[in-house]
Amino acid sequence: MRVCVIGTGYVGLVTGVCLSHIGHEVICVDNNEEKVKLMQSGQSPIYEPGLSELMKSSAESGRLHFTSDLAKGVNHGEILFIAVGTPPLPTGESDTRYVEAVARGIGSHLNGGYKVIVNKSTVPIGSGDWVRMIVLEGLAERQKTLVTAGGTTSGELEANFDVVSNPEFLREGSAVYDTFNPDRIVLGGNSEKAIAMMQQLYQPLVDRVVAEDKSLPPVPVVVTDLSSAEMIKYAANSFLATKISFINEVANICDRVGADVTQVAKGIGLDSRIGSKFLQAGLGWGGSCFPKDVSALIHTADDYGYNAELLKSAVSVNKRQRQMMLEKLQQELKILKGKTVGLLGLTFKPDTDDMRDAPALDLIEQLNRLGAKVKAYDPIVSQSGLSHGLSGVIIETDAEMLADGCDALVLVTDWKEFLKLDYGKMAKLMTNKTLIDGRNFLDRKAVEEAGFRYVGIGR
Ligand SMILES: NC(=O)c1ccc[n+]([C@@H]2O[C@H](COP(=O)([O-])OP(=O)(O)OC[C@H]3O[C@@H](n4cnc5c(N)ncnc54)[C@H](O)[C@@H]3O)[C@@H](O)[C@H]2O)c1
Repeated sequence: MRVCVIGTGYVGLVTGVCLSHIGHEVICVDNNEEKVKLMQSGQSPIYEPGLSELMKSSAESGRLHFTSDLAKGVNHGEILFIAVGTPPLPTGESDTRYVEAVARGIGSHLNGGYKVIVNKSTVPIGSGDWVRMIVLEGLAERQKTLVTAGGTTSGELEANFDVVSNPEFLREGSAVYDTFNPDRIVLGGNSEKAIAMMQQLYQPLVDRVVAEDKSLPPVPVVVTDLSSAEMIKYAANSFLATKISFINEVANICDRVGADVTQVAKGIGLDSRIGSKFLQAGLGWGGSCFPKDVSALIHTADDYGYNAELLKSAVSVNKRQRQMMLEKLQQELKILKGKTVGLLGLTFKPDTDDMRDAPALDLIEQLNRLGAKVKAYDPIVSQSGLSHGLSGVIIETDAEMLADGCDALVLVTDWKEFLKLDYGKMAKLMTNKTLIDGRNFLDRKAVEEAGFRYVGIGR
């Protein structure tokens, strides 16, 4: 099928590359010219395992193209994905101006052929109808220009499109894997024709043609109305964020009563009604999705006269959790002024270069405020020189340089390579041998044997 993906960030680029890999003809559009040039030269602007290789093979197949020309993309696609960012506004609601610009642009380039316009961006509930309205406005504006120019009659540009909501559930760090091995595909809309086209688009994924385990039953497809599809995305992220806040709260109680939260998580996670995922206590959730999606759902609830108390508590537990790392450092080092703290990891989770709303950013800011010197080593940030935009932190190129002269190390991101560091050598380089494991990730015994005082979360 002919596909156009507008917005080539973590979601759009992965979607475009993966759809072309399963046989579709894809044009990816982005208004960032620099990014487009980079992608046209075969390079990925983001770090995502397996993406560069797949991008290369898709480009070689001739089924994947990049452009900054929206008209070209709209002309090409029978299915048009909107995959631009929806960052949070200071009020907590999501900033839909990029979606609006794209919807208007699509409207002004529609050429009469039937199109399915797909909201892949996470958008507030009700956005399906709103996008339809904006596309129609774009179409009407173009019509007006054409009529004024005497180029056409008012009947020529028809509104031959439907809007579908197709929320994305990929996880950064395993985005390609998740796209090929989805737990479910959600399609919201009221046009049978549009839903049928979306089902055709995804059929190879549903049939697990490129899945890791091809023997699994077909991927479930949830077909629903627009608002329910939009709500599914917010509810899923809010549930996961709440689950993490729950185990963090349990961890804080464990810390006080002398229980070990890792054992507690194991004990409750084996209950099939609970499940073991998202039960790792740590320094709180972050990233580009959970904080903004939970805030947006709280905001929507407020707009409709409902006080989402549970979600508000999940947010405040998370804020408190980030603060707690500072308290642990103060307990260990007392005065932080003049001390050097080394952060192992910066990104909000491993296998990504994404720093949006990463807990490390809060920690750096607070440590700077209290007069501590902050250094960091992150496998991706240190290596790729992506440290631009980070202030108040010295980026080291390896873990031993990080340890050199530190009063404490804080493990912020659970990168696998941190399991294999030479902690004995690192301890010898430290001024004071304290390691706070903000993810309960390391082997406590091994770290203690290496000479560190080990402090975990809730254990
Ligand atoms: N990142 C994730 O893990 C994830 C997962 C699920 C859903 N989502 C949702 O998907 C959406 C996209 O997220 P992301 O992380 O990929 O965003 P991103 O910020 O990484 O990428 C957005 C891209 O859109 C481009 N863009 C902005 N305005 C444009 C325009 N007018 N025309 C063309 N391109 C334009 C930007 O240049 C950028 O490349 C968001 O709504 C997000 O909530 C993200």
